[in-house]
Amino acid sequence: MAPSSRSTRLLLPTTAMATARFLLLALCAAPSPAHAARSLTTPAAAATNTTNATSPAAAEYLAPHNQARAAVGVPPLRWSADLSSAAAKVVAQQQRQGRCAFADMAGSSYGANQGWASYRARPGEVVASWVAQGKYYTHANNTCVAGKQCGTYTQVVWRRTQELGCAQASCATGATLTVCLYNPHGNVQGQSPY
Ligand SMILES: *[C@@H]1O[C@H](CO)[C@@H](O)[C@H](O)[C@H]1NC(C)=O
Ligand SMILES: *[C@@H]1O[C@H](CO)[C@@H](O)[C@H](O)[C@H]1NC(C)=O
Ligand SMILES: *[C@@H]1O[C@H](CO)[C@@H](O)[C@H](O)[C@H]1NC(C)=O
Repeated sequence: MAPSSRSTRLLLPTTAMATARFLLLALCAAPSPAHAARSLTTPAAAATNTTNATSPAAAEYLAPHNQARAAVGVPPLRWSADLSSAAAKVVAQQQRQGRCAFADMAGSSYGANQGWASYRARPGEVVASWVAQGKYYTHANNTCVAGKQCGTYTQVVWRRTQELGCAQASCATGATLTVCLYNPHGNVQGQSPY
């Protein structure tokens, strides 16, 4: 799938949200198109790298979220073990399909930010790639630069979102899929994040 001329350190963010418009963008950004949504009720594989509030990785996800939120005057998120387990099921499913491709989160009631990397990316690095989309976002008119995506950033700073939980899986290809789920979800079309 990845020709040898491609970067070996490719890091791609995407988001699934309440609007079809952003979902299309997310699917276009996927390095290998996510297949149709399947049941997410199967238990997480043992190799899945899940985490919880007491693990260092939880702080690694949470801290950059809350820094970005504080920067725009939005209250911090708290860690959710339930959302973390739900995210673990999602990444385990993608892991079993072999390539750690983006999951189809269109049916989820939660917000979902995803990050795909061709290498074993650190959680903080993945969240930083979501926050970095903020450079294309103009709050004054709630728009994103044409041709860019701001959805992962706007979910990070969505005021009404209160909690998140994340998980990461690595595949035999060396790729890593990282998923964070948000409750309540952000990115309601026509609304400003804060
Ligand atoms: C949270 O993670 C730590 C470290 O991995 C583990 O020891 C602990 O049992 C976990 N707690 C829960 C509630 O899963
Ligand atoms: C799980 O992820 C954490 C944070 O990136 C990392 O430190 C740890 O080594 C990973 N564990 C496994 C088994 O991949
Ligand atoms: C929003 O504001 C930015 C910065 O002033 C501007 O470049 C952009 O054209 C505006 N977009 C719309 C749709 O008004």
